Amino acid sequence: MRFLFTSVILGTIAMLSGCQTQKQSPKQPPQFNTGALWYDTNHEVINAHGGGLLLVNKTYFWYGEKRGTSASEGVSVYSSKDLYHWKNEGLALPKSNDPNSEIAVGGLIERPKVIYNTKTKKYVMWFHLELPNQGYKAARAGIAISDTPTGPFRYLKSFRPNGNMSRDMTLYLDDDGSAYHIYSARENYDLRIVKLTDDYLDATQQDSLLFSNHREAPAIFKKNHLYYLITSGCTGWEPNQASLHVASSLFGPWKLLDDPMQGPLANKTFGGQSTYILPLKDKKNAFIFMADKWNPKDLKDSRYLWLPIEFENNQPVIKWQEQWQLSSYNP
Ligand code: DGJ
Repeated sequence: MRFLFTSVILGTIAMLSGCQTQKQSPKQPPQFNTGALWYDTNHEVINAHGGGLLLVNKTYFWYGEKRGTSASEGVSVYSSKDLYHWKNEGLALPKSNDPNSEIAVGGLIERPKVIYNTKTKKYVMWFHLELPNQGYKAARAGIAISDTPTGPFRYLKSFRPNGNMSRDMTLYLDDDGSAYHIYSARENYDLRIVKLTDDYLDATQQDSLLFSNHREAPAIFKKNHLYYLITSGCTGWEPNQASLHVASSLFGPWKLLDDPMQGPLANKTFGGQSTYILPLKDKKNAFIFMADKWNPKDLKDSRYLWLPIEFENNQPVIKWQEQWQLSSYNP
């Protein structure tokens, strides 16, 4: 009991201070240091927030918001073969120098996600776009396209899917090649899903309400024909309690399950907010839950919480771990 209490306190102190660093030592096997400063292969701190990952052959690409103190500086992309060591591949989507562009400096690009279209052979990026100098009023989905995973992507357009506001979002590519945009609508009170057109460049009219309980930060995965969706509440940059829903169809009905987080600050998602869930390439039913621990005073210093998803009685569970390795997954 005393041990549990002490480790909870120590874990909480480490989480709050962010005092660990994620520098990998060549002598030791690599590990994830949850919430620590994470350096790329060039010894620069990784700047890829609200991100998502894409696997291309044997390489993972990590797309995320490049942030300044508060500014949105485009979408950065990093590459890795092992998920521990990341090479900065530059800006996948730079801000435009044209003041009339929808992605000009002064607007926001948040939560970028990229999927590959095997028919058109294009990499397609969707993101939450806010137009320059309008705060969060525009609430649009933005789309960019590239022939290569590192880009630079070409900005195409933005819109509100079927007229709905679109803020926090994710993309989901299902096994049959159909893709979906899951998004917070109606001032974030509604979470909706819309099926994309075959080229992934537009929303179809197959657009439906998932639930109406003021959620954002959707992150989704599929296991044994069931879809699991983790979302956050709406408290700006402040952490809050995650919720987990399950459904056998993307269009629902979605059933609320218990909060999967366990450990210090579990009821505040360990101080973070969901952004993406990565299925591992070489392990069946192995997923990494990815969250951002935002620092609103200096957004570029926001940290990454990556944790393994475990299954207990067939229910997803995410336990706080200060350090962990991919070998911790059962074979
Ligand atoms: C919460 C969202 O999840 C973030 O992506 C960002 O939009 C902040 N709100 C802004 O307050």
